[in-house]
Amino acid sequence: MNALSKDLKNVVRDYENNLRDIVNKDSHRLKFHLMPTVGWLNDPNGLCEFNGEYHVFYQYSPFNENGGIKFWGHYTSKDFINWENKGTDLFSDEPFDCHGAYSGSTLVDDGKMNIFYTGNVKNIGDYDYINDGKEQNTILIISEDGKNFDNKKLIITNKDYPSNLTCHVRDPKVFKDDDKFYMVQGARDKDDVGQVILFESDDLINWKYINTIKSEEKFGYMWECPDLISIDDKNILLISPQGVEEDGIKYNNIYQSGYYFIEGDYKSTDYKLSDFEEIDRGFDFYAPQTFKDSSGRTILIGWMGLPDIEGLYSNPTVEYKWQHALTIPRQLKVKDNRLLQSPIEELKNLRKNKKEFKNIDTLEDECYDVFETEIDFKNKINFKMVVKEGATLEYSKDTNLFSLYFDETGYGRTKRSCYLEDIKNIRVFLDTSSIEIFINDGEEVFTSRFYPENQKGIKISGENLDVKIYELDGFNIL
Ligand code: FRU
Repeated sequence: MNALSKDLKNVVRDYENNLRDIVNKDSHRLKFHLMPTVGWLNDPNGLCEFNGEYHVFYQYSPFNENGGIKFWGHYTSKDFINWENKGTDLFSDEPFDCHGAYSGSTLVDDGKMNIFYTGNVKNIGDYDYINDGKEQNTILIISEDGKNFDNKKLIITNKDYPSNLTCHVRDPKVFKDDDKFYMVQGARDKDDVGQVILFESDDLINWKYINTIKSEEKFGYMWECPDLISIDDKNILLISPQGVEEDGIKYNNIYQSGYYFIEGDYKSTDYKLSDFEEIDRGFDFYAPQTFKDSSGRTILIGWMGLPDIEGLYSNPTVEYKWQHALTIPRQLKVKDNRLLQSPIEELKNLRKNKKEFKNIDTLEDECYDVFETEIDFKNKINFKMVVKEGATLEYSKDTNLFSLYFDETGYGRTKRSCYLEDIKNIRVFLDTSSIEIFINDGEEVFTSRFYPENQKGIKISGENLDVKIYELDGFNIL
């Protein structure tokens, strides 16, 4: 850690301590989600399991609840319930990352954490910051213990990226395949076509560009936060594209997050991407990242928020000097050419009191403040559920449309929808100011913030439903 980082670590800690009381007065602080201590949070970064502990880093701007210079905040946990807040562990303190330690990933190899991230630099001058004026450096930090993050090594610079690209190349995600290392980065080319570039390495230090992965037709001008994963021998490319036009009930957010299945060999030109599928239909989901844990699960965490939403919708938490959170961790599976997301098993350990209702058509219950509800459907029916008097979930068996909509508790969030051929089960996680809905074993997911004040309870109407409601504990964060 250089001298500047040492000072910054103390400055951030003092700043957090000064504002902690204001932040903690906010009744919208979440109970079972990771949040910034103060200020702004965005993408999850560097997710991994290392020496029996899960590490969750995140883009952190402590000094500005509307986003500012980006550092990496850090949480660890052994069980996804009890967490340690490690504070801020990565600062933008070198000439090659002086305008932000942007997003990146961690590869655990040979008993070490290898952290790769983008060092953002904005040169001072009259630049458009698309074609010039911006450096997006790829930086490596090797940590032996997951606690000390010394010695940044600059490994790739703009001149190493293909010459048809703009300056927008970032968010390295590194993985190992057949004893070789690979890195995907998100990019925008000079024709404003979003794409992913692929590098190969034998030693994690020297990298060679080997391929570009893009859709046959342009799909947005920039692809952020790529992740290339393999589940049950299927290769899947996750991306967060920008510049995709709204199409009916599809692509309704300012930016999207979704995935392609890759057929063929992505290391050569002999590959084909499937149709793009949105991974989440809610108002607040972006820049997800995955990692494989030691039991082989692929676990995804997303940013429960979006950039550039000013004028569209808002978060009243900014009055209390903080904004945004991470989603609950979800396990990914593949079924019938779809990616399914289900909350990781460990979250069942948050369950406390339980209420159970069998074969009901309607239900009105005071419920709990923070809870999970599971509903099983026996036939395809019309269904409506209102949560905390502010969020409505509705399904029509005639149109097949499932919608989530809000009243003023949505702070500008209106309605999001998807089509479902049938409705078999729903699991909903309600924190003080968030809702995450998993439909049909996670075939569709809606993630959103909303801000009920004193509104409570749950109202359901349907037919022959089995409903379970669990009161949930919060995370224990030290
Ligand atoms: C996605 C993103 C990344 C970038 C980071 C900066 O939300 O724009 O592309 O690395 O955020 O905070």
